[in-house]
Amino acid sequence: MRCKYIILLPILGALVGASCPSYDAIASKFAATLDPKTYQGFWYEVASANVFLTKGCECTRYNFSMTDDIHFTDIFTCNKDSPTGKPYVLENHGSVDPKTPGKMVESLGPVSPPYWVIQLWGNESAYDYSLVYACLDLIVTKSEYIYFFSRTSTIPEEQMSEMRAYASKYDIDLKNVKDVPMAGCTWKTQQAQKFSRGFLN
Ligand SMILES: *[C@@H]1O[C@H](CO)[C@@H](O)[C@H](O)[C@H]1NC(C)=O
Ligand SMILES: *[C@@H]1O[C@H](CO)[C@@H](O)[C@H](O)[C@H]1NC(C)=O
Repeated sequence: MRCKYIILLPILGALVGASCPSYDAIASKFAATLDPKTYQGFWYEVASANVFLTKGCECTRYNFSMTDDIHFTDIFTCNKDSPTGKPYVLENHGSVDPKTPGKMVESLGPVSPPYWVIQLWGNESAYDYSLVYACLDLIVTKSEYIYFFSRTSTIPEEQMSEMRAYASKYDIDLKNVKDVPMAGCTWKTQQAQKFSRGFLN
């Protein structure tokens, strides 16, 4: 018996060690201090990992908009199984941490899992790409989610490499990252333009 414990303990220790990082440890200052108003508008989910709710989704896009200084809606739309498939809409709600706006929570129901913007590309008046991470501590392991967002439906190869490198630097597992199919998609672009040009500004 004793022998078994000696073998098991280090294994358990290693599993418990697989816990989620803190926001401060993995977020850039630019992302942590983002301006929620500038973050508003459409975000295309060009690639992601471990998002079970959105299985079979194509043309995935979020419409992020602040409802007050702290709260937002982030309406998710995709087409199931083909670019002309049945639209699938989820009305997510969330909030930003007033002191650290990049540290968001977002949910559909009563639970508020993290939705952390860990790095942004662009400038102070326009964010072009966003790397969003969520991690849930489970009892002996963790569950990680990662999203590669863009203001358009594509991310140039060089930009994608930079985003992957950022995640890898913080030991975020990228082996399950998959491209979201975007070929043949049509979106309401007119509304998109109007919206990103200054809703609430
Ligand atoms: C995006 O969200 C805003 C705020 O809720 C809304 O006014 C706008 O119509 C939405 N755009 C689309 C294309 O759904
Ligand atoms: C910020 O980026 C946007 C989009 O990439 C660009 O159009 C704009 O000129 C930039 N503004 C500044 C102040 O650099």
